[in-house]
Amino acid sequence: MSRVRTIGGNWKLNLGPAEASKVATELVAAVVDRGDTRVTLFPTAISLTAVLEAVRGSGIHVGIQDVHTADSGAYTGANSATLARSAGATAALVGHSERRHVFGDSDATVHRKLIQCLDAGLLTTLCIGETLEQRDSAQTEAVLAEQLKSGFGELPPDRVATVTLAYEPVWAIGTGRTASPEMAQEAHAFVRAWLRQAYPDWVADDVCIQYGGSMKPANAAALLSCPDIDGGLVGGAALKAESFSAIILA
Ligand code: 13P
Repeated sequence: MSRVRTIGGNWKLNLGPAEASKVATELVAAVVDRGDTRVTLFPTAISLTAVLEAVRGSGIHVGIQDVHTADSGAYTGANSATLARSAGATAALVGHSERRHVFGDSDATVHRKLIQCLDAGLLTTLCIGETLEQRDSAQTEAVLAEQLKSGFGELPPDRVATVTLAYEPVWAIGTGRTASPEMAQEAHAFVRAWLRQAYPDWVADDVCIQYGGSMKPANAAALLSCPDIDGGLVGGAALKAESFSAIILA
């Protein structure tokens, strides 16, 4: 099993180049000894270069929060996986709940974005998760299964195995309401079982499944000790080096 424990910091639409560089520099100093944990920062595209400069030589990855479905062309305001790669990014997020629910990314769009990122050679995180309404009407597993099926499409097992998954229940994002470790583990076990029935066993064993949604220093250790929770994707608590490094070291 070659699952890599991965902690991501998704800065969303926060931290311009100067602030982002400062937090990244503090983080590098705070997490010199992070063992085998892969750490990835997702600044806004405007701050990408500044953050790359700040983490140079530290082993910390820097990624893009979203990409367009095309490489280049007449798409005002968009960023692409290939351009992110050429700017030095090594990672990407696709399908974040804010992309799905605020910007209207469909499962089909998320799939196309995933292919763009993988083709560009980025370490790609596919985010999935149910809304509160879907959880309350017992649709969580159906929603996750559909997001996985459409997200991966016809990708072969060896490419699926390179993707990191982030289970982020929409109702826990930015709300301070974290899924309990039991609730999160249950969803993660479902995702792992889905992978196991869809692909050869080694895929399910290799894929890192992160939890995201109000993860903070106080709850990180309990969540990360669950057998199917292999990492975290952190929003608010990643904006300060002190709280983010405490999660990384949890
Ligand atoms: P919060 O940690 O702020 O809830 O955000 C989680 C998230 O959306 C990470 O991608």
